[in-house]
Amino acid sequence: MIVCATVAFGSPPLPSSPRLQRVMMHMLKGHLTGIARGTIVDLGSGWGGLARQLAKRFPRHQIVGYERSTLPWLVSRIWLLMVPQANLQFRHADFMKSDVSDVTLAVCYLMPGIMVKLADKLLRELPPGALVLSNTFALPGWQPIDQRVGPDLFASRVYLYAVPAQLAERSIAEVRSHGPTRQTFQHPERDLFVCEPVDDSR
Ligand SMILES: C[S@@+](CC[C@H](N)C(=O)[O-])C[C@H]1O[C@@H](n2cnc3c(N)ncnc32)[C@H](O)[C@@H]1O
Repeated sequence: MIVCATVAFGSPPLPSSPRLQRVMMHMLKGHLTGIARGTIVDLGSGWGGLARQLAKRFPRHQIVGYERSTLPWLVSRIWLLMVPQANLQFRHADFMKSDVSDVTLAVCYLMPGIMVKLADKLLRELPPGALVLSNTFALPGWQPIDQRVGPDLFASRVYLYAVPAQLAERSIAEVRSHGPTRQTFQHPERDLFVCEPVDDSR
């Protein structure tokens, strides 16, 4: 079933490793502080482990995991029934058809082919100031505001992106070809939201 789902959907339900999850959480340090609302989405939540970590780490946010492969989604739902987490939910749905217009942070660990379509969707639909955190695969055409090499065997990278405020004023084609470069922008929940690389030594 998992093999069939991988062939059909192009991405196996392989979870982000605990080491890379730690890197991902560390990269988010400081970025969501002060933002009281907004949804965090795990685009392709697999078995639900990363979404649960996010739910624990950001208790004031609603975390939504989208997973279209039935078995991993079912396991994440059963796990949630057995160990409830109030701010966490899982939807058996295609994230490409999901509404991301109120999303504060989108997290993903997918495959290169999907990233092309996802980059386009997120660029069009995410609100200014929203963050995107991607395990291993970069968003084509986007300029990361931070990137780290994980302590794993493959030296996997984790990329953090921010949607700039100026996006509406610039043509999407221009952003696609050059990538957003601003690191300071307006956020709907805050007056000014400055994204700076997090100091690893802290
Ligand atoms: C590599 S797993 C990542 C799991 C989890 N996000 C993590 O990092 O631990 C990727 C998951 O994305 C799911 N997926 C791929 N495309 C999807 C889509 N369009 N809608 C929903 N889920 C999708 C796959 O079924 C797979 O379970």
